[in-house]
Amino acid sequence: MKTTASSAIASFFSLILLGLPATSAFAQEAPATTNEGTAEAAIDTAAVIEEEEIPPALTTYKGRTIAQTMHWLGAEWLLRQEREREEATTVLMRELQLKPGMVVCDLGSGNGYHSLKMAKVVGETGKVYAVDIQPEMLRLLKARARAAALTNIETIENKLHDPMLPENTFDLILLVDVYHEFSHPEQMLQGMLKSLKKDGVVALVEFRLEDPDVPIKLLHKMSKEQILKEYLPNGYKLVREFDELPWQHLMFFGRADATNDQPEPATERADPKSSPRPELPE
Ligand SMILES: C[S@@+](CC[C@H](N)C(=O)[O-])C[C@H]1O[C@@H](n2cnc3c(N)ncnc32)[C@H](O)[C@@H]1O
Repeated sequence: MKTTASSAIASFFSLILLGLPATSAFAQEAPATTNEGTAEAAIDTAAVIEEEEIPPALTTYKGRTIAQTMHWLGAEWLLRQEREREEATTVLMRELQLKPGMVVCDLGSGNGYHSLKMAKVVGETGKVYAVDIQPEMLRLLKARARAAALTNIETIENKLHDPMLPENTFDLILLVDVYHEFSHPEQMLQGMLKSLKKDGVVALVEFRLEDPDVPIKLLHKMSKEQILKEYLPNGYKLVREFDELPWQHLMFFGRADATNDQPEPATERADPKSSPRPELPE
């Protein structure tokens, strides 16, 4: 009998909770970033792949080691108060240049930190697709959307190798701190590409590998050079960049076959006084 991704994840976590040894496939590295709350484990990608007959996962892609997926039990960490200061998320939202009526996607949405913000901007005439492989994340997201009386968010539980998005639909797909976790980067990039409108963009947000002051584990950071190495051969072109987030790259990729090259917009640096970098962890 087939089990679902959620049951595989839950059974893995119960092993940990029971203090039983995990198998080598389960022996994951520490939480994704400096401080992912109580999530002591990553999700059990190997079991999900076997049980759902998904193509084999990559461990490296174009010279980069792929990071493990953050477990939903750490979801509370995604809502931490310091996030605005560390990631200037208000500036990020502004730079996405969202407008009422847009159809957008928060891919790897987690519990919806950005989905809810986007839903408020695109409004009732627009729509946000919040997509995640962990149904528990989507349940948490739906509860948050209900509490905020937002009715324009649709959730999709996707597969590790398939974003499961409608084709030719999106003005923007946002990926915050998730792309580096994709176990099937090429399949995901292809699926995203098909789902973009001709002039749609992927907004990629990744912690800067080039900056040793960004207190995030190396496997969960990416350099611009690496990002370009992965996106350009997969049918994307770089259309815009914003280099002023405190810790992260923000790069916009369009379809290579589109004609929407945009000039570099004038940008303001996020006020370092209002968003000072926190102390490095011990
Ligand atoms: C570090 S969390 C970031 C969540 C959210 N983007 C945020 O910034 O609050 C990464 C999320 O990506 C999801 N994820 C990992 N691989 C995925 C894939 N192939 N498709 C969709 N979601 C994925 C994980 O389940 C997790 O919820």
